[in-house]
Amino acid sequence: MSESDLLTAARRARRLARADFSRFKVGAALETRDGAIVSGCNIENATLGLTMCAERVAMFKALSEGHRRFTRIAVVADTLGPTPPCGACRQVLWEFGGDLEVVLANLRRVSGRYRLSDLLPLPFDARLLT
Ligand code: THU
Repeated sequence: MSESDLLTAARRARRLARADFSRFKVGAALETRDGAIVSGCNIENATLGLTMCAERVAMFKALSEGHRRFTRIAVVADTLGPTPPCGACRQVLWEFGGDLEVVLANLRRVSGRYRLSDLLPLPFDARLLT
């Protein structure tokens, strides 16, 4: 699947964001190794602290549907520069997705492409629990 398909899915998911408190809508689209796309949007609620980012919604949806291997994630927000994944999302994406390619974009264009290992250079993960 092309990067542009992935971006389209992330932009479409962003429109479904439940961001009544911050008004900051984010969409994510995760590519599985077998070519499926699983999307997610951020979901806020009145306690604020239970907010779930678009990236983790996409990953948890994908895992709960049985997907296990991933190649890329696109993250879209309506910002001039890139909206990078927060620390919690980097951790979850690393543990379940490995060294993903992370494509950051706004509504019109790509603002950056990164490897997750560059965004989370010294990760804590299951290898350290042995
Ligand atoms: N947010 C995401 O969904 N992903 C990001 O990469 C950055 C932040 C959400 C969380 C919250 O709903 C809103 O954006 C403002 O922080």
